[in-house]
Amino acid sequence: MLAQGLVVSHEQMGSSNQKLRRLVLQGPVAQTAKAGQFVTVQVQDSARTSFDPLLRRPISIAEISQERDEITLFYRIKGRGTEILAQARCGDSLSIMGPLGNGFSLPEEGELWLVAGGIGIFPLFALVQSALSQGLKVRLFWGGESKAFLESAGLTSWKELGIELSLSTLDGSLGEKGLVTELVQSALSQNKPTESKPEAKEVKVSVAACGPKGMMQSVTELCQRFNVPIEVSLEERMGCAVGACLGCVCTLKDKAGRQIHKKVCLDGPVFRGEEVVWNETC
Ligand SMILES: Cc1cc2nc3c(=O)[nH]c(=O)nc-3n(C[C@H](O)[C@H](O)[C@H](O)COP(=O)(O)OP(=O)(O)OC[C@H]3O[C@@H](n4cnc5c(N)ncnc54)[C@H](O)[C@@H]3O)c2cc1C
Ligand code: FES
Repeated sequence: MLAQGLVVSHEQMGSSNQKLRRLVLQGPVAQTAKAGQFVTVQVQDSARTSFDPLLRRPISIAEISQERDEITLFYRIKGRGTEILAQARCGDSLSIMGPLGNGFSLPEEGELWLVAGGIGIFPLFALVQSALSQGLKVRLFWGGESKAFLESAGLTSWKELGIELSLSTLDGSLGEKGLVTELVQSALSQNKPTESKPEAKEVKVSVAACGPKGMMQSVTELCQRFNVPIEVSLEERMGCAVGACLGCVCTLKDKAGRQIHKKVCLDGPVFRGEEVVWNETC
């Protein structure tokens, strides 16, 4: 599970003030990785003079190429660890651990609706590839702060897929002004036969969501209201990422409604939306 990843490409995505990076690593992880899984990357200064920062940083696997032995990570520079990571150059070898976590499941029939808030779009890149390769119809709902953000975070790649896109921005610079949850609500309502259109056929929908906790909670509540299955990818701060430190424990409920605890690194990061206890978890 511990492996080296050779940096074959590392570049800025879009405008510099978005602080987004695309990192392509070559190594054995690509052979077993699947959509929704993540790796942890050791981030150390180039001199490697100390173990600070000690903790590896978790980043989702956004693209997988088994032919080229490559995985692609998209990340936003947030703090010290990702700032150090941003200095990695082509030819460097990074210590990575993975693939970790369980990944999303794909429905056997119907449409898969992907719902992303901000950089929650990143794990969905790998998911759309697997879904399309299995012949599923996919639709994307994606909300971000602005047009500049969506364009920097890979909007062009999504347009090239030819799938239906529903976009929202907080400042109204692209798509609908407001929250992505409003777009999802409207689409779920339209998918229901109404009194005026009783003959309309309801499409069987499954949802996969990733983004801020509040967004995933709202989308889960909507899906429950419309009786649509949903999987969410939780992002918890992690220590060991292998189930040993209990740093990522979240609260879920079992089928009988009893509260249980699970580790996001080992049992997740993908869970069924209805099993998450949103007010307690993470
Ligand atoms: C399973 C998983 C998958 C992830 N995938 C991606 C990804 O594909 N791309 C990406 O850009 N980021 C991803 N993240 C978040 C990423 O791990 C953190 O942004 C990163 O660890 C921050 O490290 P840092 O040293 O730069 O920042 P720090 O100095 O550690 O923290 C800077 C700020 O970021 C916040 N922060 C740190 N970790 C997290 C976290 N896990 N969730 C929310 N806020 C956090 C801190 O509270 C602090 O405010 C993922 C996290 C998890 C758990
Ligand atoms: S991060 Fe240590 S148990 Fe999950």
